[in-house]
Amino acid sequence: MRCIVSTRWLGKALRWLETVTSTQDEAKEWVQSGAPHGAVVVADQQTAGRGRWGRSWFSPPGKNLYLTAALQVPATAPPLGTLSLLVGIAIAEALRTHFQTPVFVKWANDVVAADGRKLAGILIEQHENWALVGIGANVNLTTDELPDELKPIAVSLRCLVGKELDRWAVLDAILHSLEAWWDRWAVGDTSPFWQAWAGLDWLYGKRVQVLFPDGTTMEGIAKGVAETGALQLQLDNGLVQTVVAGDVTVRALDTAEEGHPS
Ligand code: BTN
Repeated sequence: MRCIVSTRWLGKALRWLETVTSTQDEAKEWVQSGAPHGAVVVADQQTAGRGRWGRSWFSPPGKNLYLTAALQVPATAPPLGTLSLLVGIAIAEALRTHFQTPVFVKWANDVVAADGRKLAGILIEQHENWALVGIGANVNLTTDELPDELKPIAVSLRCLVGKELDRWAVLDAILHSLEAWWDRWAVGDTSPFWQAWAGLDWLYGKRVQVLFPDGTTMEGIAKGVAETGALQLQLDNGLVQTVVAGDVTVRALDTAEEGHPS
């Protein structure tokens, strides 16, 4: 892989590593030893790639993108709950623009294809005033190469676009887009953000079930996000509940109240 990105500041300090446990661990160590704002760690494979809620992240070599951006969060930034949404928008816009593929954001941390299969996941971990923004994107995997349990729920960019892609071009596109969104977000300018989310929101109008970290569930119609980044869920009694953390699955695609502008 090439090691130069065409951004202004994000990823100008970049470490490309062959094998790591997790790019999150590498980025944290780099921050502790003086990484600059915008430092990025990219790995070819991870032996202990992790997702949200202690899940593992499938990280085979030679195929995908695994990266962590170390970003210093300024006091002017909006609530941190909006950051994973921002990163999702940045990835989706980059893939739409550069690879002409209709992808969407799925609250809170996913980028999905039109059929809901997951293309990329976002993991944000905090270290003091740093956000370690981890992105895992399936780029060149074929369906055959996915583990059986992921086959129905995951997809790669290659499968959507119909050809193998240069992982470096995908990385560059994502970093470019993230850099531009971060620059607005960091100074508290969220107005373009809500509009972008609404245009890409895969869940909007769908009947969903939210699984909470304690194992309980709640059902309702997804109604976009609040200013804190929380999901707005309209319950069957008409009340709108704000959901701060949870895993969302779509209950029945044919119950959508309002179609998505795809
Ligand atoms: C999720 O969907 O649960 C989030 C997945 C995040 C995976 C990425 S891959 C790069 C970075 N390093 C990790 O160990 N995890 C994130």
